[in-house]
Amino acid sequence: MIFAANFKTNHTRASTKEYVDTLLTKKSLFQNERLYIFPPLSALQKCESDIKIGAQNAYMIQSGAFTGEVGLEQLDEFDINTLIIGHSERRELLGESQTMVAQKFQFFKEHNFEIIYCIGEPLEVRENGEDHVLEYLSTQLEGIDTNYDKIMIAYEPIWAIGTGKSATIAEITSIHNALRKLTQAPLLYGGSVNLENIREIIQIDNVNGVLVGSASLDAKKFLELISLSR
Ligand code: 13P
Repeated sequence: MIFAANFKTNHTRASTKEYVDTLLTKKSLFQNERLYIFPPLSALQKCESDIKIGAQNAYMIQSGAFTGEVGLEQLDEFDINTLIIGHSERRELLGESQTMVAQKFQFFKEHNFEIIYCIGEPLEVRENGEDHVLEYLSTQLEGIDTNYDKIMIAYEPIWAIGTGKSATIAEITSIHNALRKLTQAPLLYGGSVNLENIREIIQIDNVNGVLVGSASLDAKKFLELISLSR
């Protein structure tokens, strides 16, 4: 199974290091799992263990005049070759268009990155029914090679993120089954995954892992979440 921790704008360089050290004290817990953590860009660091550290965002450039962004050169310094692309917070709050998201995908695919590619609908689309959801998600897959051998697709309904209200088992099952018809890539679910619901979610067919925000911020709790999944 894949367990990915998205710190968003939480943790510092020092606390990220402590976090990784805490995880490494319980290596046996995740020796058969794939673990990723995505700290803020200022906390990127080399990690020679089995835990992969990735970036939450990057710009599709080697280096250049893109104020506030990091490119390939800055990621290379820390041997970072894993990236989240298309998170709803970047699409919604920072105005990343599908065109830009697809350009990022293409660039980092060409550089052989592992990519967690996020899709997910807002509440008003969900309220119109699943057909509308599937239609919406398909627009978020435009320009994306879902057969890329290093893509993982994370379904994260926007209304489930940070709300404490995850999608239901039936909703996740149905969307993941539909996605499975499109791709053999690992499929992750994200949106209020926590200690209470992880067992049920991880057992769903076609859920190959989870992308976790708030419930990943405390290393001990994240370890507990992993242990509950076994
Ligand atoms: P929460 O787990 O806090 O709902 O966040 C999910 C998420 O956005 C992970 O990328």
